[in-house]
Amino acid sequence: LSLPSHLAIIMDGNGRWAERAGMSRSKGHLAGARAMRDVVEHCAKTGIGQLTVYAFSSDNWSRPAAEVAALLELFTSHFRSEAEKLERAGIRVSVIGRRNRLPLVLRRVIAQAESRTARCTGMHLRVAIDYSSRAAIELSVSSQTGDAASNASALLPPVDLLVRTGGERRLSDFLLWECAYAELLFLDVLWPDVTSSDLDNAFADFARRERRFGNVPQRAIAS
Ligand code: FPP
Repeated sequence: LSLPSHLAIIMDGNGRWAERAGMSRSKGHLAGARAMRDVVEHCAKTGIGQLTVYAFSSDNWSRPAAEVAALLELFTSHFRSEAEKLERAGIRVSVIGRRNRLPLVLRRVIAQAESRTARCTGMHLRVAIDYSSRAAIELSVSSQTGDAASNASALLPPVDLLVRTGGERRLSDFLLWECAYAELLFLDVLWPDVTSSDLDNAFADFARRERRFGNVPQRAIAS
């Protein structure tokens, strides 16, 4: 079975999940964080090399202040509580995106989690926070000076499979460059409801796809 070496996930649907359950949107994000923990663990066990997840886009700053605050607090407590577990699981974690608009305490726990797991050789988990792919591309194009506002490696290795939950079919400024030849998979399941078997189905779907990268099918070359 050929696994995606780099899997990217747009974790969409937390808000609708919460509204359906009669809860606040912030409760939906909390449930989303639990789902993310399970997905990270399952991907690492399955042997995914790189997993990049979209936690907060640069456009998400325009959400209601209470929701933004709840998300930033959730990220802070998540990095605080997960760093040790990630290290034990051999998972290296890094954050991509712009850092200088994040609260200091969040920047600190991110830096701690990154340095704690820097030498881990298992899966590389990247969490996109205050991330905009167009901004990353612009930064990379104008990178001679090295903009201190963002971290150095703005562009990532190519994405093999991009999964978006929550039913929408768009990229929302996530990994535009990296997804040049990505297989795209859109799932209707709301993110907090995603399961390991949804992922296994996604991997099986990926394995069945014929990736040609602009070339002709391999059987046409052979004949
Ligand atoms: C999209 O759902 C989800 C987000 C904007 C936040 C994603 C965050 C998590 C999954 C929390 C865990 C992350 C970390 C790093 C601990 P939405 O709010 O757009 O849902 P909707 O489309 O139903 O409104």
